[in-house]
Amino acid sequence: MHLAKLSLAHVKKKVTIMSAEQKIAAGLAGIITGRSSICEVDEENCELYYRGYSILDLAEHSNFEEVAYLLLKGELPEKKNLGEFQNKLSEEREIPHKVDEVLKGLSAKTDPMDVLKIAVGILHTVDPDASSNEEEANIRKAIRLIAKIPTIITDNFHFSHGNEPVKPNPHLSLAENFLYMLKGKEPEAFESSALEKSLILYAEHELNASTFAARVVVSTLSDMHSGIIAAIGALKGPLHGGANERAMEMLLEIEEPEKAESWIKDALLQKKRIMGFGHRVYKKMDPRNPVIKKISKELGARNENSKWFEISEIIEKIIDREKGLHPNLDFYSSSAYYLLGIPIPLYTPIFVASRVTGWVAHVMEQYCDNRLIRPRAEYTGEKKREYVPIEDR
Ligand code: ACO
Repeated sequence: MHLAKLSLAHVKKKVTIMSAEQKIAAGLAGIITGRSSICEVDEENCELYYRGYSILDLAEHSNFEEVAYLLLKGELPEKKNLGEFQNKLSEEREIPHKVDEVLKGLSAKTDPMDVLKIAVGILHTVDPDASSNEEEANIRKAIRLIAKIPTIITDNFHFSHGNEPVKPNPHLSLAENFLYMLKGKEPEAFESSALEKSLILYAEHELNASTFAARVVVSTLSDMHSGIIAAIGALKGPLHGGANERAMEMLLEIEEPEKAESWIKDALLQKKRIMGFGHRVYKKMDPRNPVIKKISKELGARNENSKWFEISEIIEKIIDREKGLHPNLDFYSSSAYYLLGIPIPLYTPIFVASRVTGWVAHVMEQYCDNRLIRPRAEYTGEKKREYVPIEDR
């Protein structure tokens, strides 16, 4: 595996130039903070590559397990390697009794993203490789996380509804098994294929906020699980992964295509953010959008319910016209997941189930050539004040 060199040398140079111009890159926009060989975001041509492979090819021809292998190991697997990798993932699906016990004790109202942070924390305490930072140990930890997160999501879903969870089926793929564990019956091929393609699209995206959070944490030489917990926390926010749930809530509130135009215009007048639109990097188009849009359209046709797609297209046209903004991956995945019968509070956790592959790849890349990530801030507070004892204030 070619592991990237993360050097802050040229970041230092950039910071120096910027302070001379008295410019600050709010939100680190446009700042290159290191090197990575995992994902190439070509914003000019609106293209996205995982380890050099176009996401369009991967979504069309590959499967989630193969993409996970590619992200972790840097190369597409040969048949035998893929089989072994899939077996390891299947064997690791069950979650330790300790985790289920804690999930059962949580309030049914606990946000599923908070549940994931808690569960990943407990997984760390029982992981046999917890204290090792060797590459092979990190790969084993990564496999366990990728395998167990879907089970944590569905176990918690069933517990929070007063039901017993559905045990994972080792003969199904990760996408098939997720829908099986959620609904208690094996999905149709078109359903698992739709979910699988969305998982491939969500798997990795360079230094997005959650991945950066994971890298910051492990740059202190903290453990992989701590990095993943930080990433889950970052993904939870509505400006990042939380947008897919908010986007579906918006579609439900709009309810009918006839109401879409006035609803959106009103929201824009009120200066509301329209969830699922805009992107820090892609200003012309999110290359993942055409794929997920097609999936949403096809699921609408299959379900003889094109309402959500129709509302979405109306919103897309208005937001483009009024704001010049385009849908990101979260917009059409919301209606796709809704049509797959997935409860809304699980949309962002599903994003975790996929993106954990990218996170663990970045965590391992960071370890490989680490330097503590510690940027600077321009101080804007009061200067050199005299301390006044409390009784004199
Ligand atoms: N709806 C309305 N206005 C928007 C939106 C939006 N979705 N996105 C950006 N804008 C506007 C802002 O109000 C701002 O306008 P102003 O200059 O008049 O104040 C301008 O566009 C720039 O916005 P920023 O927040 O500075 O742009 P940035 O690049 O930092 O933001 C972000 C990117 C956070 C994704 C933003 O577009 C947003 O909030 N989108 C909605 C949330 C969302 O969909 N997140 C998912 C991201 S993709 C993913 O996680 C898979």
